[in-house]
Amino acid sequence: MLRKGIGIDIGTTQISICSLDEGLLLKEPSVAAVDVDTNEVIAAGKAAFAAVDDAPDRVRLCWPVWDPIVKSAEVLAAMLRIFLRRALGRTLIRPQVMVSIPCDLTEAQTNAVEDAVLAAGAARVHLLEAPLCAALGVGFDFSSPMGQMIVHIGASRTEVAMIFIGDMVTHNTVPVGGAQFDSAIIRYLREKHKLLIGKRTAEQIKIRIGTVAAHTEEKTLDVKGRCIVRKEPRVVTLSSKEMLGALREPLTAVLDAVLTVIEQTVEDMRADITKGGLVLTGGGILPGLDQFLADVMGLRTRVAANADTAAAEGAAQALERLNK
Ligand SMILES: Nc1ncnc2c1ncn2[C@@H]1O[C@H](COP(=O)(O)OP(=O)(O)OP(=O)(O)O)[C@@H](O)[C@H]1O
Ligand SMILES: [Mg+2]
Repeated sequence: MLRKGIGIDIGTTQISICSLDEGLLLKEPSVAAVDVDTNEVIAAGKAAFAAVDDAPDRVRLCWPVWDPIVKSAEVLAAMLRIFLRRALGRTLIRPQVMVSIPCDLTEAQTNAVEDAVLAAGAARVHLLEAPLCAALGVGFDFSSPMGQMIVHIGASRTEVAMIFIGDMVTHNTVPVGGAQFDSAIIRYLREKHKLLIGKRTAEQIKIRIGTVAAHTEEKTLDVKGRCIVRKEPRVVTLSSKEMLGALREPLTAVLDAVLTVIEQTVEDMRADITKGGLVLTGGGILPGLDQFLADVMGLRTRVAANADTAAAEGAAQALERLNK
């Protein structure tokens, strides 16, 4: 079967590839295993972790997306090439690609993404901002003369946009996402429980008990770390009820980002949002975040059913619209 058009969401931690007719084709961590002697990419995604486990002296992990992008352009291209082959199988047809990109990229970064996708084997590349992709992916009506609001939370940033007839009329990006939620959990455990933990443990805590809803059933988790005072391993039983306090700082930053966009929006469109509410997308959404935002702002807030893949799905749809 011929598959010519695909949407790709290139995230700092995760890459998703979708096609319009087949939906999600690939979702992998955006990591490559690089041979330290030859600088060659020998595996990508989950397989990269296995490659490092097999030969830890000869292979290192590289996360080539966005920040060090120009430096890692070749790694990015090689990683994408592996992913494209995995998603599309062996085919002679080079795909046309729509990439969902963050709103805050520099021109150099944007060019680097474009070059990397072409070097990975795409026939043509188009770029569209992530909030627009996510909005299409969750089914916003781009012909509607109603303001619609999307809040897209990734690993390293939150992008908020007011969308009107398929355009972003106001938008705001803040450098707060899942990684900053993890850092807040690390700080909380250090300050409140005198326990040192690493990033991996913090992410696990977030995924297992990281709810920020005010009223939910309590969950607990035994967390292993290193006691700061006695300098020895210690276990602390952490409750989900502590999470709202632990995550207060990054949550406030997300809230402020949303409020800024609402403040900058003209009155008529604000009224649309009062009626229509806002939609959350992205992998970084914490359980209860919809309720948290709804309670503070008094606005209806819902998590999209396809929150995690909306940007890639929307990118595929955007390509279809372009080709019509
Ligand atoms: N169940 C979960 N609950 C809360 N957060 C989660 C969960 N699962 C994954 N995450 C977090 O989601 C984030 C990844 O989300 P996403 O894939 O949207 O980011 P990304 O696109 O790679 O990043 P960015 O768009 O910022 O470049 C990570 O920080 C991860 O810890
Ligand atoms: Mg993303």
